[in-house]
Amino acid sequence: MRSATSLLPSYDVRRPDVWQRLACPLCRSSLDEVESGLRCATCGQLYLVAAGGTVPILLAATSELYEAEFADWRPSQRRGTPAKSYRQARYLPPTNVTRISEPAKRAFLDAVGPGAILNVGSGQCEIHGEANWVNLDIHPHHNVDVVGDAHQLPFLDGSFDAVYSVSVLEHLRDPFLAAREMARVLKPGGRLWCTAPFAYPVHGHPHDYFRFTPEGYRSVFRDLEIETVGPATGPVTTIGHFAERALDALLPGKLGFLARWTAAWCIQPWKYLDPLLVRRDATCASSYFVVARKT
Ligand SMILES: C[S@@+](CC[C@H](N)C(=O)[O-])C[C@H]1O[C@@H](n2cnc3c(N)ncnc32)[C@H](O)[C@@H]1O
Ligand SMILES: [Zn+2]
Repeated sequence: MRSATSLLPSYDVRRPDVWQRLACPLCRSSLDEVESGLRCATCGQLYLVAAGGTVPILLAATSELYEAEFADWRPSQRRGTPAKSYRQARYLPPTNVTRISEPAKRAFLDAVGPGAILNVGSGQCEIHGEANWVNLDIHPHHNVDVVGDAHQLPFLDGSFDAVYSVSVLEHLRDPFLAAREMARVLKPGGRLWCTAPFAYPVHGHPHDYFRFTPEGYRSVFRDLEIETVGPATGPVTTIGHFAERALDALLPGKLGFLARWTAAWCIQPWKYLDPLLVRRDATCASSYFVVARKT
């Protein structure tokens, strides 16, 4: 049960607003609660519910390994206590300082208002405390409401007012399939916010497959009506990323890290040129955002 004094859903309680939207990731039918977890009403597939019966593990290819791994899982932290990122832990400067896409994101969120928002690939850094956010990730980070795969979203058709996804699309082996899934779970008139890198070094979480141009977004989100595509970060940010990687590669061990750290802080003030540069030439952005609508 949610605390009357707080709007924040906590991790040790079940969220009825989330459960009523759940579906079998294999056949998209509704799920029935059974003693061992959740069972698909149509195909009979069984799913585990971890974290003391609060977090459904709705992975289509639920392996015994997954079951063993998640069965004893308890969220260790509460919402609102994000883990430090790699950069924060090493006192490297933040990568996105100018927040070029912030006004567009604000307008998107204002338009959604209290509507239900599905955060696909919520990760552990980006925390949204509002109760209308549903966090889905393939990893059981401390802030997830549902463990699932973006390629087979475990939600009923048309169950969300908005879908939000930041820095995830590049990690999906089939972004076209995931985009169709995002469109499927949106209500008619529902809207999508997505950002993904265009010029960024290869990185983990857990795999890295693609980069996205404005035309790439139009192709990937072809089931939706594209409202806006714009730059999210600029070319100095790109220079910073690659300079850091190059110095790390050039010099061994701690020396490489020191060179990287120094270069990162020297480049940092120049990032304030990014908004001007992408205004003059939007083709030199480091990443783009897209806002799209389900008609
Ligand atoms: C770079 S992180 C971004 C996290 C967060 N959106 C943010 O902006 O801080 C990518 C996230 O996508 C998740 N992810 C990767 N593949 C996924 C998939 N197939 N389905 C759902 N989440 C996935 C990863 O576990 C990771 O948390
Ligand atoms: Zn099913």
